[in-house]
Amino acid sequence: MLLLAIETSCDETAAAIVRNGRDVLSSVISSQVAIHAEYGGVVPEIASRKHLESLAPVVTLALQDAGVGMDELEGVAVTRGPGLSGALLVGFSAAKAIAVARKIPYVGVHHIEGHLFASFLERPVEFPFLALVVSGGHTHLYHVTNFGQYTTLGRTIDDAAGEAYDKCAKIMGMPYPGGALVDRMAQSGDPDALRLPRPLLRDGTLNFSFSGLKTAVLQQVAKNPVTIPGEAANDLCASFQQAVCHVLSAKTEAAILQTGASRLVVAGGVACNSGLRSSMTALCRKLGVELSIPRPSLCGDNAAMLAVPGDYYLSHGHASPLSLDVTATWNMDSIKESLT
Ligand code: KG4
Ligand code: ZN
Repeated sequence: MLLLAIETSCDETAAAIVRNGRDVLSSVISSQVAIHAEYGGVVPEIASRKHLESLAPVVTLALQDAGVGMDELEGVAVTRGPGLSGALLVGFSAAKAIAVARKIPYVGVHHIEGHLFASFLERPVEFPFLALVVSGGHTHLYHVTNFGQYTTLGRTIDDAAGEAYDKCAKIMGMPYPGGALVDRMAQSGDPDALRLPRPLLRDGTLNFSFSGLKTAVLQQVAKNPVTIPGEAANDLCASFQQAVCHVLSAKTEAAILQTGASRLVVAGGVACNSGLRSSMTALCRKLGVELSIPRPSLCGDNAAMLAVPGDYYLSHGHASPLSLDVTATWNMDSIKESLT
C-alpha cells in the first residue's frame, strides 16, 4: 500500500510517504527542540500550537519529495499515543480528515510500535525477537511474536533512560535535551573516573531504575562543580554513560537468557547512543544473537517508522474507526486484545 504516515506525539512534526511498509519515498521532520529548549523541557500547549502551524506544510513537503499526489494515497498511519494529548490530537485529526476526504482507511499506531519496527525499513527482522526500547519516555524490554503481539518483560520503575540523560545534562548546565551532548562528551572522558551506582542491577527482575543515578550525578556536581567544556565534565559524562550502558546490557542479557531469544532489536532515541550501540554489539557477539539497531536517523522520532506496523494493520483489515480517540497512556500488551 502507498501510505502517508503522520507523527505528532511530542515535539517533532513529521510526515512520510512509504510504499509497502518498506520503501521510504520521503520523510520530513520539523523539530520544535529549539523552541522548547528555552523552557528546559517540552511545554505541551506550545507543542500543540506548533504542530498545528507545521503539519500542513510538512505533509505537503512529504508528498512533493515523494512525487506523490494526495489522490494516489491508499491509507494513513498516525500516532494515536502515548504522548501529549493536545499534540497527538493535531496529527490524529488531520489523519482522519485526509482519510474521510480521500475515502481511504486510516490506522492509529502506538508510538513505541513505530520505534520497534524502524529497523524493518532497513531490513526486516524475523519473529520472534526481543526488543529493548530506550527513549525519552520509555525503557522497556518486550518479547515480540508478531505485529501487535507484545509482552512486556521489564520496564523502568521511575525515569526512562533518555530522561535520565536529559536530567544529567541539565544538572551539568547543558541545554535541553542534552542526551546527545552527554554522549559526545563521554567519548572524550574516562568511564572509570567515578564509581556511580548501578540501580537494580542484581534485583532478579528485568526492571530498570535511573532516578538514583541522577541523584548521584547531582551530589557529585554539588561536591565538585564542573565546567563545560572540561575534563571533569567529560569524565562525569563517561562514568554516567558506562553506568547506564552496564545496566541496560546486563538486563538485556538476562532477558535473552530467560527467553532464549536469538534476535535483538534496539530502538528509540537513545539507540543513537555510541556507548549503547557498542555494548549491545559486544553483548550480541558474545551470545551469538542477531542484532538490529536502526541507523541514527531512524532512531529518533519520525513518521516513516509508523508505516511499518501501519501497512501491516491496514492490509490485514485492522483499520481504525472514525470514532477512535487519542490516548496519552497506552499499554503495548493490550494491543493484541484489540486485534482478535
Ligand atoms: O525516541 P525519541 O526521539 O523521543 C521519544 O519518544 O522520547 O527519544 C528522545 C530521547 C531524548 O531523551 C534524547 O536526549 C535521547 O533520546 N537521545 C540520546 C542520544 N540521542 C538522543 N540519549 C543518549 N545518547 C544519544 N546519543
Ligand atoms: Zn519516540
